[in-house]
Amino acid sequence: MTTIEFPKDLKWGAATASYQIEGAANEDGRSPSIWDTFSHAPGNVKNGDHGDEACNSYHLYKEDVQHLKKLGVGLYRFSIAWPRVIPEGTGELNSKGVAYYHNLIDELIENGIEPMITLYHWDLPQVLQDKGGWESRETTDAFQQYAEAMFKEFGEKVNKWITINEPWCASFLSNYLGIHAPGKTDLQAGVDVAHNLLLAHGKAVKSFRELVPEGEIGYAPNATWLEPFSPAEEDVNAARRGMMWQKEWFMDPVFKGSYPEELTSIFENNNASPKVEDGDFELISQPIDFMGINYYTGSLARHKEGEGLFEVEEVPLDYRKTDIGWPIYADGFYKLLTDLNDTYGDVPIYITENGACYNHEVEDGRVRDQERIDYLKQHLTSIHRTIKAGVPIKGYIVWSLLDNFEWAEGYEKRFGIIHVNYRTFERTPKDSYYWYRQTIQNGWFEL
Ligand code: NOJ
Repeated sequence: MTTIEFPKDLKWGAATASYQIEGAANEDGRSPSIWDTFSHAPGNVKNGDHGDEACNSYHLYKEDVQHLKKLGVGLYRFSIAWPRVIPEGTGELNSKGVAYYHNLIDELIENGIEPMITLYHWDLPQVLQDKGGWESRETTDAFQQYAEAMFKEFGEKVNKWITINEPWCASFLSNYLGIHAPGKTDLQAGVDVAHNLLLAHGKAVKSFRELVPEGEIGYAPNATWLEPFSPAEEDVNAARRGMMWQKEWFMDPVFKGSYPEELTSIFENNNASPKVEDGDFELISQPIDFMGINYYTGSLARHKEGEGLFEVEEVPLDYRKTDIGWPIYADGFYKLLTDLNDTYGDVPIYITENGACYNHEVEDGRVRDQERIDYLKQHLTSIHRTIKAGVPIKGYIVWSLLDNFEWAEGYEKRFGIIHVNYRTFERTPKDSYYWYRQTIQNGWFEL
């Protein structure tokens, strides 16, 4: 047996996002988001699922906070639904929507849990989409106003903030690959949205410095690790190109103030290019306090002519997969984090998401999700190696506290350490919840 022991000051947390858990879609003045529109249109989400009720956390948040308390986490990462607090996208605040988040934050603090707020976890007000959404630069101003309103409202109580969650998903997956809302399939739209999300991030950071001078702000891109299929140069290059799309495209602007040239040329060869205006990179590259990383999967990549934009083929070999079909590659986590540290320097890192999809159900009052425990053990072992290698990892936040609305996959795919019955909204902590609780309590686990 090997003991994997973590530094005492590592922060442990759990995460959720507004559209995935809140429900109450039509209550207390919330307006529709792009995800309401998208999920209600036939064919976009598996089984026609939508977030109208989700986990009903809008009403059950106190129960959820009790689960967090018993879990023993120091941090709870959640997101604010922009259409709940500013239903018109800009202008008037909706007092009932704002009150919900005050109540949630107060409840967390009273129970000794630190809130970490994500400003944008994909639920753009539909009214703004109707005016061009993230393809329009005006949305970056609307976001800055929304962010400022939230900083003023909650900045005294909340110290840790995240601007944008997984910008690759909110841009390319949503506007080029068409899989997430608003469901477009246009590369130029993907590139424009990516740029405007980065700009929105920069504008929010600027406001944050004035309004919450003592606070910490970061953002949370997702990345996978692609391991070259072979040491052949063409495979090494293919793996690098494949990763650039999620990693460098969203990291270089923030930490280096530019887009990676190789990828800019690939986009240009496909008749797409970012519309960069004077001053954009100064805004985007303002120093931030931490880098958030969402990591789930990785695989082997080899060069294949004609395969997608980047001529990369992902080769499964014999990787085990989670129930959503993503290959498990815990070593990739170590490689990714050490690579980020080598490339961008000693920026403090929070693992803002890591977790696994397994669809176990309740049997005799218990959810036996040993596979999720194994996944968490393997990935936390990688984190442990990363910390030993000197990378400043500040916190680990598991995705997710609850089973929830898994976007285009609907409710069928379960990522929670707590099971949710979507008919009764009953919560049942899974075996992984108890394992995580023990690990937090001890500060170590046995492999
Ligand atoms: C990424 C997203 O941030 C989150 O919303 C999603 O549910 C998980 N990863 C799992 O796909």
